[in-house]
Amino acid sequence: MTFNLALFFSLLLGCFCAQFNWSEQQKWPVPYKRFDYRPDVDSYCQALFPFCPTGDPDGRIPYVRESDVISVYRLQTPVWEFKYGDLLGKVHIMHDAIGFSSSEMGTNFTMEWYELFQLGNCTFPHLRPTVNAPFWCNQGAACFFEGIDDSHWSQNGTLEKIGEISGNQFNDLAQWVQEDNRTGIYYETWTVRSDSSSNATVWFESYDCSQFVHRTYKKLTELGAKLSSRTQTNYTKIYLYSGEPKYLGNDSAIFGQPALKNLAMDIRKFYYMFRPHQSFVDIILSLLEAYEKVVLSKSFYLYYNFEYWYLPMKYPYIQITYEEVPLP
Ligand SMILES: *[C@@H]1O[C@H](CO)[C@@H](O)[C@H](O)[C@H]1NC(C)=O
Ligand SMILES: *[C@@H]1O[C@H](CO)[C@@H](O)[C@H](O)[C@H]1NC(C)=O
Ligand SMILES: *[C@@H]1O[C@H](CO)[C@@H](O)[C@H](O)[C@H]1NC(C)=O
Ligand SMILES: *[C@@H]1O[C@H](CO)[C@@H](O)[C@H](O)[C@H]1NC(C)=O
Ligand SMILES: *[C@@H]1O[C@H](CO)[C@@H](O)[C@H](O)[C@H]1NC(C)=O
Ligand SMILES: *[C@@H]1O[C@H](CO)[C@@H](O)[C@H](O)[C@H]1NC(C)=O
Ligand SMILES: *[C@@H]1O[C@H](CO)[C@@H](O)[C@H](O)[C@H]1NC(C)=O
Ligand SMILES: *[C@@H]1O[C@H](CO)[C@@H](O)[C@H](O)[C@H]1NC(C)=O
Repeated sequence: MTFNLALFFSLLLGCFCAQFNWSEQQKWPVPYKRFDYRPDVDSYCQALFPFCPTGDPDGRIPYVRESDVISVYRLQTPVWEFKYGDLLGKVHIMHDAIGFSSSEMGTNFTMEWYELFQLGNCTFPHLRPTVNAPFWCNQGAACFFEGIDDSHWSQNGTLEKIGEISGNQFNDLAQWVQEDNRTGIYYETWTVRSDSSSNATVWFESYDCSQFVHRTYKKLTELGAKLSSRTQTNYTKIYLYSGEPKYLGNDSAIFGQPALKNLAMDIRKFYYMFRPHQSFVDIILSLLEAYEKVVLSKSFYLYYNFEYWYLPMKYPYIQITYEEVPLP
């Protein structure tokens, strides 16, 4: 009898689990949302430095002859280290890009993906007196322009040829970049994971210049390119550490309903501390301030796919690393 009862319950449980399909509950990392098209930027967001000043305004990429041979370069340069020397010590905050040079046309090109309104605006929102929800100027996009500024990349960073592709492969890549640029519209600074071990669960992936470079290398490999580097290929990652994130909702769900006004107020209070600043030094100070605040309260409100998540933060809270990501 006992045996049958146990069997009965396990069958019942099996039924429930099949019905609810628990494995469908939440996939980690949360996939970065793709959009059908890139919306116009709100006029509130004003760039201090124009985005992609020397690129084609419509993002056109020249068509190259099939017979052309295009060299591919890995480009990397420090963002802050040399401007503010000691302030950042040994922290490697690098910007990554890809270079191409055509042997038939004799011209070369740089391709990179970055923030329309700089890092501070992509990391922290604006609190506007007339708007309830925090306001984000967080678009990021690809920029393709003629020329490679050799000294900019090679002096304190990297300029290394990592392969050759055909004209056909280049033209296919160009099409892919335009599609990627049209559907992946916002920048995400943070990578969120459960701990720093190699088998940690990644809750959210960043979406930044280095992720663009990795996607492009992957695409090139799919198109048949062989890439190799003589040096270790390291990239900057900005990590948050947390327990399992809790979904909160989008702007209208949180900031449009009186029932959630305490949560809405908490999120505004949280981001009040990290108002975007214009100078790099201010951003660093903000990051340090963020560190203290996050350590004390052990909580963080993450904005991802234009939705808020609650992160129960844990040691070591925030970390900036410069670690190897091998070429595909
Ligand atoms: C449950 O969901 C997962 C992930 O979406 C899916 O792969 C799996 O086939 C589903 N299982 C059942 C029994 O529907
Ligand atoms: C950040 O956004 C604000 C609001 O639009 C703007 O005034 C500021 O210039 C932006 N910062 C940078 C560095 O572009
Ligand atoms: C990507 O989109 C931005 C914003 O619309 C645009 O300025 C840029 O030219 C596009 N780049 C490419 C390579 O399509
Ligand atoms: C790119 O072109 C410029 C101008 O012709 C040249 O000075 C530079 O060395 C080239 N760089 C590479 C990596 O091909
Ligand atoms: C490289 O670093 C040196 C010394 O820190 C600095 O003077 C120089 O301007 C840097 N070069 C570039 C292209 O950033
Ligand atoms: C991987 O996870 C297990 C427990 O889930 C842990 O015991 C082990 O130490 C982890 N391995 C590494 C390399 O961190
Ligand atoms: C916000 O979330 C609600 C459900 O919580 C949904 O109905 C609505 O379409 C979402 N709004 C946007 C702009 O995605
Ligand atoms: C590059 O990454 C590897 C492993 O991720 C690390 O051991 C090495 O110290 C890093 N190199 C630099 C210059 O930081």
